[in-house]
Formats: sequence, C-alpha cells, structure tokens
Amino acid sequence: MDPIDLFHEDIGSGSPILLVHGYPLNHEIWKQVALILREKARVIMPDLRGMGKSPATPGAYSMHLLAEDLLCLMDLMRIDKTILAGHSMGGYVCLEFARVFPDRVSGIALVASQAVPDSPDRRQARYVSIRDVERNGIGPVVEAMLPKLTDRQDLKEVLTNIMSDSSKLGVMGCLGGMAERQDAREWIPDIKIPALVIAGKNDKIISMDNAKEMAALFTDGKLEILQASGHMPMMEQPEETAKALLSFLGRVKQVKKPAR
Ligand code: MLT
Repeated sequence: MDPIDLFHEDIGSGSPILLVHGYPLNHEIWKQVALILREKARVIMPDLRGMGKSPATPGAYSMHLLAEDLLCLMDLMRIDKTILAGHSMGGYVCLEFARVFPDRVSGIALVASQAVPDSPDRRQARYVSIRDVERNGIGPVVEAMLPKLTDRQDLKEVLTNIMSDSSKLGVMGCLGGMAERQDAREWIPDIKIPALVIAGKNDKIISMDNAKEMAALFTDGKLEILQASGHMPMMEQPEETAKALLSFLGRVKQVKKPAR
C-alpha cells in the first residue's frame, strides 16, 4: 500500500513535535496539550489513516505503513527531523518510525503505550473484532472501548464523539495492524535518542509493568507516572502531560547542542 496524505493541524512555531493519537481516536485528543505546547514548539497533529478526517483504505494497517504515512507528511511539510509523541497505538507507530527512519527523529515520547506485541489471545480477540466491525459497524467497538479509556464521566461524551468519527475500514485496518505488530523490545535498546514514557496510574489497557519495562529498555529513557490518569493522560491531566512534554523538549534540545 502507498502512503497517503494525512489530515493534520499545525499550530505554534519553533522546533516541531508531532503528536500521534491512539486507536480508535484522532488528533482532537491532543487539543488541550497542544494549546500549551504551541508557546514553545510547532505542534503537528495528524489524523492517522482511516481515523478522523484522514482517508481510509481497505486492508490491515501495519505499524510500518502508518509510520510511512507520517514520513510522507513530514516530507510534504519539509520537516527534516522532529520529536515524536505517540499515544498507545500512536506509540507503536512512533517506535516503528524510530526503527526505520532513525535520522528523522530527535526524541520519542510514549504516552500510555508499550513495547510488547499482542499475546495470542489478544491477537485472536482483534480478529474477532474485525469480523464484528465488518458486520455491525464501529458502534460495538466504541461502546467496548469507552470504559477502558477513562473513569472520568465528564470526558465520556467527547471521547464517544471522537471515536465515532473513525471509519469502519480504519478501525478494521488498525485492529489488523496492531495484531500483527512486532516486538519493539528487540530494537528499543538501539534507539539512542532521548525517550520519555508517560504512564497513567489507572490505565486499564497498558499495565504499569509494561510501561516501566519499556522506559527501562531505552539507553536514555525516563518514566513519568501521572497519578490521576487512566489511558488518556492528555485529556485527564492535560497540564501535567504538557509539563512533562515541555521538560522533554528541553532535554532533547540539550542533547542536540554540540559538545564544547
Ligand atoms: C490504543 O489506545 O491505541 C489501543 O487501545 C492500544 C491497543 O489496543 O493495544
């Protein structure tokens, strides 16, 4: 499959940071964080293939394909190098991006994400979901995901609306791609750029053990645990998430400075 042009928002100025949403979401999840980051950086928020306003294609969306879509966007925008911040599945995509396009990324932040691939049971459940979505549309997926994303009642409506903007093909494509994704633990030690892992203490999708394991695998990795967050730290604790990312931007800048 060829890369496609992604819908994206682009705000602020300075060094770029690309905020990559998870499944089955879109760039809207980053809005509050982006409004804070824009004071210090150029914030680019794409909708991944089949999500939000980006076009959908049939078939499984491998993490590699989604990473190529991001590269295509960077090329179109003439961005040579960026910081990547990926939420959950967006994190899987960023890890793959750092593996295949290491010269195009200066720092990697992973929010409510993990390095491990699907267990056989999880993979099987994804294939069952694909068939379900094919027959019944994305309604059941949205309903099943909602309680896993957050306990915050005030975020349920906006999250339902965001998820409902995903296309049927997009949801099936992401499920297929996540089921087939590789074990990123194999290459994370080779990613030598600064890394930040942000984990929600009450995340029902990503275990704290998995977040800690991933942070420890990086040669220059740091872990930030947000106590009042589940799977959506950028919406549950936007100020704290932005603060962690801003301090990460500073860390990446320090590393980029030539040695005297
Ligand atoms: C996500 O939030 O992107 C997904 O739930 C991650 C996953 O299912 O592995």
